[in-house]
Parts: sequence; C-alpha cells; structure tokens
Amino acid sequence: MSKNVKLWGGRFQESQSDLMERIGESISFDKELYEQDIRGSIAHAKMLQRIGILNSKECKAIETGLQSIKKEIESGQFETRIELEDIHMHIETRLTQLIGDAGKKLHTARSRNDQISQDVRLYILDHLKILLPLMLDLLHSLLKKAESSVNILFPGYTHLQVAQPIRASHYLLAYFWAFQRDVENMIRTYEIANVLVLGSGAMSGVNYPTDREFLKKELGLGKISENSMDAVAQRDHIFQYIFSASQCMVHASRICEEFIIYSSTEFSYIRLPDRLTSGSSIMPQKKNPDVAELIRGKSAMVIGDLVSLLTLVKGTPMTYNRDFQEDKPPLFRVTKNLLLSIEGLKEMVEGLEFRSESIESTLRRGFATATDLADWLVNEKNLPFREAHEIVGSLVSECEKAGKDLFTIDDESKAKISPHLLDEGYLSAISLENSADKKNVPGGTAKNRQMEQIRDAKKAVKDLQKNLQSFLK
Ligand code: ARG
Repeated sequence: MSKNVKLWGGRFQESQSDLMERIGESISFDKELYEQDIRGSIAHAKMLQRIGILNSKECKAIETGLQSIKKEIESGQFETRIELEDIHMHIETRLTQLIGDAGKKLHTARSRNDQISQDVRLYILDHLKILLPLMLDLLHSLLKKAESSVNILFPGYTHLQVAQPIRASHYLLAYFWAFQRDVENMIRTYEIANVLVLGSGAMSGVNYPTDREFLKKELGLGKISENSMDAVAQRDHIFQYIFSASQCMVHASRICEEFIIYSSTEFSYIRLPDRLTSGSSIMPQKKNPDVAELIRGKSAMVIGDLVSLLTLVKGTPMTYNRDFQEDKPPLFRVTKNLLLSIEGLKEMVEGLEFRSESIESTLRRGFATATDLADWLVNEKNLPFREAHEIVGSLVSECEKAGKDLFTIDDESKAKISPHLLDEGYLSAISLENSADKKNVPGGTAKNRQMEQIRDAKKAVKDLQKNLQSFLK
C-alpha cells in the first residue's frame, strides 16, 4: 500500500518494509522546519516561473497552496504519516492534493539534498535572530550589575583558594567579555550560514538555467555557494553553530557553578531570588539553585550534541549521505537548551544580591592581601621579594595558630617575626580597598580601571548592536 504514496516510487517493484519506514522517517522531528521549507519552496517556484518552467497561474497556485499548508500546520490540522518520510514530501504531497498537477512541477530543478541544506541554513539564520538579541540582553544585565557593584570588594580565587581582593564588578565583567566573544562567534555563524544552496541539485548542479542570483535575493541571503558538491555535503554551518553554543554553555556552566557555590550556606556571598530557586519536599529549610544547576546540566547536552554532529559527518564520503538526516535532533535540541539557558542566566544575574558580611569575612580569613603586604615590604622596606614572601608566610602561619587574621593579630606576634610589621604603614598595606586600587593597569581591578572597563564594555555592546542591525532586518 505504501508504494504508491512514495514520490520516488517509480523504479520499485516491492513496497518499503515497515522497518525501512520506521528507521527512515524524519517527519517526527523535521516538521520543525516547515516554515523554512515553505519559504524556500515559494522562492523556488517564483524562480521557476522566471525561467519559464511554470506559468504565472501555476506559480500563484503553488504559492497560495503552500500558504494554506502553512496555516494547516500552524493550526494543528496537518496530518503526518511516516510513509511520507520527511517534511519535504509531506508538503509536496499535500500541495498536489490541494492544487493538482501544478504541485507536481514544484520539484523541477531541485533535489531534497539542496532543499534540506537550504532549510537548515534558513533555520539557523532565523534562530540567530532570536538568540542574538537575547545574548545582548545578557550582556546588558552583566554590565548593569557590574556598574552597581564596583564598590563591593570580593575574593578572587585561583585553585578555589582565596587569592586577591577584586571588585565584584571585575568578576562580573570577566564573564561579560566571555559572552561578548560568544556573540561574535554567533555573528560569524550567521555569515557562514547565510548562503544560497538551491541550484546545487542532488550534488552536481541542475539541468535547468536556475537563476541563483534571483533566489539569493528572494531569500535575503548573503552569497551563493561556490561548489554544488560542497554545498550539499558539508554541515559546517551546523558545526559552527553548535560549537559557538557549546563555548557559550561552558561559560554559562562556569558562572552557574559559582552561583551554586556562592549561594551555599558555607559561602553565603550571594542570594538568588526565590523565584529562580525551588524548595525540598522533605527539608523545609532548603532553597535550591535549580536554574543554575539545570543550566550546568544543559551544557553537558550541548557539548554532547557537538560531539555527535562532528562524529556524524566524520566518516561520510562526498556528497550527501542519509546519515545527515540525524543532524536535526541535536540541532533543534541545542537551540532549545541555549535559548533557555541564556534567558535563565540573565534572570539570575539581574536578581542576585551580594552579601557583604560573609564576603568581607572571607577576604580577612583568606589573608587576601598577603601579597600586598609582601610588596609593601619590598617597596617601602627595601627587602628582597623572597625575604618578604618568607616573612608574610610566617605571619600567616602565626595568625592561623592564634585564630587571628592580618587585621587582628597582636603586635607581640608581629614583632617576633619582623619589626617592620609594627610600622604604621602596615594597616594601609593590608587594606582590601588599597589592594584593589593598586592593580592600576589597563584591565586591572582598580576602581578607575573598572570605570574604564565599563566604558569599553558599553562600547563593545554598541558595536555588536550596530553589527546586528546590519543583518538582523
Ligand atoms: N530527510 C532528509 C534529510 O534530512 C532529506 C534529504 C533526503 N535526501 C535523500 N537523498 N534521501 O537529510
């Protein structure tokens, strides 16, 4: 019964087995591409009319038919069946049902190989138009939070051991720049995907004078693919998209990991808003950072999808191979996970509050200005750095024994280690604020450098915005 519904059934004596249909179908997931498929088909029909393959009546009928199929799909009235394999055959079959013979001419000068490649490119472009403004929103929230936290001194870490005091703005801006690069990667992805593939046919081109320039304009694309084989065989635009997404998710995962740690009772550096957390069904006191944990979890899915995609294409010979059909579930999943994660992260950044008491206590308990004290001994007391390091090391050890910090250790203990430590410059040498402000190099954590960096970050956002406007029309 299946044989007669296949659009390619001519040469077959036997109908497809049930297994072949079940393993071969992609309609269960590629229906997500219906809008791009219809848009591509309308452009293709107009082009066919231009080169004299369709008359204007046929072209109009195809366009109207495709528009009503779009409505059927959007209103949930469109019926799918696995015998029709994929979104392309579903739409073409329904078109012929609706408008008759003209529908059968639509696939002239086209193969599903160039069609799917085009659809996916359009899908990526469409979703970048949603994703990129959202990523810019995230940059804005990081920037805004940074601006309001310039005066908060915060522990900077290496090895998750307290290293040196930084301004909280510096910490947030570190992520600003990471996500700023992610936006640049996505813009590059846009350029890579912004290519007309139609006209490549199955793999060698088509036996008709396809007007590719017209198609490019009609679909609003940036350029025409140079090689029909490369056009149907490569999935670099998907690689680039998922790689950019993966890098962005790695950044998101790291900041989420910190939000999880920093919001714990042990750290208590930040408070996440109730609306982005959840409780426990048994432990009444719990407030779990679920959004942060889920984003960290989703990053694993996205990275996995990147590996799947690269591996999917790795061993395939030129040009199209049916394996490529499997590229769609990861692609769609990445889009969904990335959009949700960016949105979730933005809301967390906007809603988080710093808790200065525990932050300051850590800075003191972690001897965050020990390096500054050693540098003071070098600069003011003319000690060689190694000697200064040794003295401060002994002081830290003394503090630990006595349960004190650099601020509270008594003079007697200090005098035992070095008379310099009793000098009146000592307190200013260990000041948290002074420590930050001495990092007065471009890109450093000093207050004036923070203001400078915020200005640079604002300019970077403006540049990205300008860049986006030029192609996000
Ligand atoms: N559903 C197919 C895919 O996603 C469309 C292309 C089919 N081409 C073919 N030669 N069977 O890759």
